[in-house]
Amino acid sequence: MPDQLKTQGLLDIESLPREAIEEILERARFFQPGPGETYKRLEALKGKTVVNLFFEASTRTRVSFEIAERRLGADTISIAAQGSSVSKGESLVDTLNTLVAMRPHAVVMRHAASGAPQFLSRHLTIPIVNAGDGTHEHPTQALLDARTILDHRPSLAGLRVAIIGDIAHSRVARSNVHLLAKFGADIILCGPPALLPPELAQLAPGVKLSWNMRDALAGADVIMMLRVQLERQYESAMSAGEYFRFYGLRPEHIELASPDVIVMHPGPINRGRELSSEVADSQRSVILNQVENGVAVRMAVLERVLG
Ligand code: NCD
Repeated sequence: MPDQLKTQGLLDIESLPREAIEEILERARFFQPGPGETYKRLEALKGKTVVNLFFEASTRTRVSFEIAERRLGADTISIAAQGSSVSKGESLVDTLNTLVAMRPHAVVMRHAASGAPQFLSRHLTIPIVNAGDGTHEHPTQALLDARTILDHRPSLAGLRVAIIGDIAHSRVARSNVHLLAKFGADIILCGPPALLPPELAQLAPGVKLSWNMRDALAGADVIMMLRVQLERQYESAMSAGEYFRFYGLRPEHIELASPDVIVMHPGPINRGRELSSEVADSQRSVILNQVENGVAVRMAVLERVLG
């Protein structure tokens, strides 16, 4: 069987075999810095050039890919759509062909259109790493989330994971559902009816849905909060205050969950909309561990794709 990570790159979690996920998560552990250390420096990608092409806003994902590439010894170039010829009306295929003519070894790409990296991978001969495509998938986020959970729990099997918020527009939720389902976690998706269409229950076997936050949180081992994707909602959204009242995570909610529950959020967080500052800054929150694992996991992915 051809090695899909080496030929296509990392496009999604849905089609990624369990063994490949386990291998990346294990390798990421090797890249995690110890206390007071920084990430390891390797020469694994020496002589390789990686282009980071971001058509959508990003802070942590873009920076962590850049750090990961440099720690592995690659040469990197980052392009934001605003400053490129994309803003002059060039098509996506033409932009990519132009970049590929300059002979990079891989492209890391974020795009607002769901399926953009899959589409391009059919036209390109170099691997693409999907850094988030529209509302579809964000594979490296799910991998770093799994690494973070496994830093706190022995296994994903049987864990009760509540994913709360704007599920409909969340690529983070989709990638996490695919990953967690492959490893036998119990997944409950929760959000306001407009952001939780019933067909999402079919994303993976055993996924449950609830509009009620208290039900979703009962006995949860992991609470994964999501940002409301205002840039992807065309219908009028709830006000921040109203949303917070029904779906914002507050200290009293933590008591409904398992006693050693961890609280996650992919960032950027909106305090007072998705979660209260008390929760975001509490001992339960592993939000900064997620950011830290972003670099280690992306090092493992890039090494696997290009090494
Ligand atoms: C997420 C994204 O862009 O999909 N952020 C991230 O990569 N850490 C989540 C979000 O923007 O809500």
